Amino acid sequence: MAYSVLVAANRGPLSYALAADGTLTARRGGGGLVSGLSAALARQPDALWVCAALSEADREAVRQGVSEPGVRMLDIDETVYDDAYNGIANSVLWFTHHHLYDVPTAPVFDAEFRRHWDSYVVYNRAFARALAQEAAEGAAVLVQDYHLALVPGELRELRPDLRISHFTHTPWASRDFLDMLPDDVRAQLMWGMLGADVVGFHTSAWAHAFMEGARLDDERGTAAPCFPAGTGGERYVEKGPAGPGRGHRRTDVAVYALGVDGDELRALAHRLEVNDKLAALRAEVGDRRTIVRVDRTELSKNIVRGLLAYRELLTTRPEWRGRVVHLASAYPSRQDLEVYRAYTQSVRELAARINEEFGSQDWQPVLLSVQDDFARSLAAYRLADVALVNPVRDGMNLVAKEIPVVSDGGCALVLSTGAGAYGELREDALTVNPFDVSDTAQALHEALGMPAAERAERTKRLAAAATALPPSAWFEAQLSALRGP
Ligand code: G6P
Repeated sequence: MAYSVLVAANRGPLSYALAADGTLTARRGGGGLVSGLSAALARQPDALWVCAALSEADREAVRQGVSEPGVRMLDIDETVYDDAYNGIANSVLWFTHHHLYDVPTAPVFDAEFRRHWDSYVVYNRAFARALAQEAAEGAAVLVQDYHLALVPGELRELRPDLRISHFTHTPWASRDFLDMLPDDVRAQLMWGMLGADVVGFHTSAWAHAFMEGARLDDERGTAAPCFPAGTGGERYVEKGPAGPGRGHRRTDVAVYALGVDGDELRALAHRLEVNDKLAALRAEVGDRRTIVRVDRTELSKNIVRGLLAYRELLTTRPEWRGRVVHLASAYPSRQDLEVYRAYTQSVRELAARINEEFGSQDWQPVLLSVQDDFARSLAAYRLADVALVNPVRDGMNLVAKEIPVVSDGGCALVLSTGAGAYGELREDALTVNPFDVSDTAQALHEALGMPAAERAERTKRLAAAATALPPSAWFEAQLSALRGP
């Protein structure tokens, strides 16, 4: 069967676990991209999701021919995959787009980097080849994220008949950070992206950063030419790379701010399992106020400065001691990378230190959970008086949108200016500079003391903004833009 709608993403809607007796069981994949796309694709019965086998169990499933309808998992050589995913996508592109480098020591672009980059090219070509095989004439192909930045360019070469989009779920790097990449690598990246008919971002800030990067390479003559044809509004135009015999193609740069499906989320948050977890949390928290955060243990989420702000709150505003609990869920992510393991450790240590410093017999100031437990997270959302979302830089951040929709009594949102969601939610949030711990502590204090009526009003408006473009509408808007009139 040839498909007319195809999605490509590194992570698939499910991944497999291999039991000791050799049986394979499927589990839902994690992260914002997967939840948004799964919801959107549930309404597209004839679509194909092309993803990578992420683990030995996934590879075993592919070898045994185990699969789910609408999913094609690619069994990419383990070393190639590791170099591409850990070596380039998570260590270079993620760090570049989120501005995470500690510049005196990183990045280092050496022979090992070149080996990883070659693998990244091979991995992207494997996706392009699979998509080219599966797509019907003139099909729409929606490529996701920084893992697959070269796919549009590669696929365009193989199948010029296709309509191709690329959506970036992260920020796009500023010029200064993009400029750190070796010239040829940056040019190849832009070539890949500009192979798409439409390049999408969560916010106009990231779209503008992308266009600025494209112009930079154009000015220097290091890239295939891109000719900016206008900016402003929510839709922009770039001329894509000129290839032999292809002329200047046009690439639209567009903004689609992903939101949440309010009805579905509320239904999920009121399942029995969540009610049970809520009762358990309530018993632990008592009648104290709650500050809630839920993140992957991820450097860009700024969990350590969040804890420092909480500590400063307890130090400078002793009236909150014993009257507040910080429910911090930081579930494991990318633990193959040493820098993530070290970060996870510093989160644990700081939470323990705060509990030692301020805790008493009947009060534990921080309840840190490091389990990937969606039901518990939803229970924490419902209990939230204050939501803390303070990333240094984040493509969107769906947690900032989910908590106001789900919280039982309304919540005050403390939101970083670095989150993509800042653009849509800032008027009703208490906004903070993510690097300013004292500013964040002050915002937590104000949020905890916010009068109930004001909190309810703000929460209502936050929830309305958060649900403006639910996943299915977000996806369909992109699909119809791609198919054109
Ligand atoms: C972010 C990225 C996604 C990624 C997710 C989880 O949301 O935009 O592409 O899937 O993080 O990260 P992981 O490395 O576990 O897939």
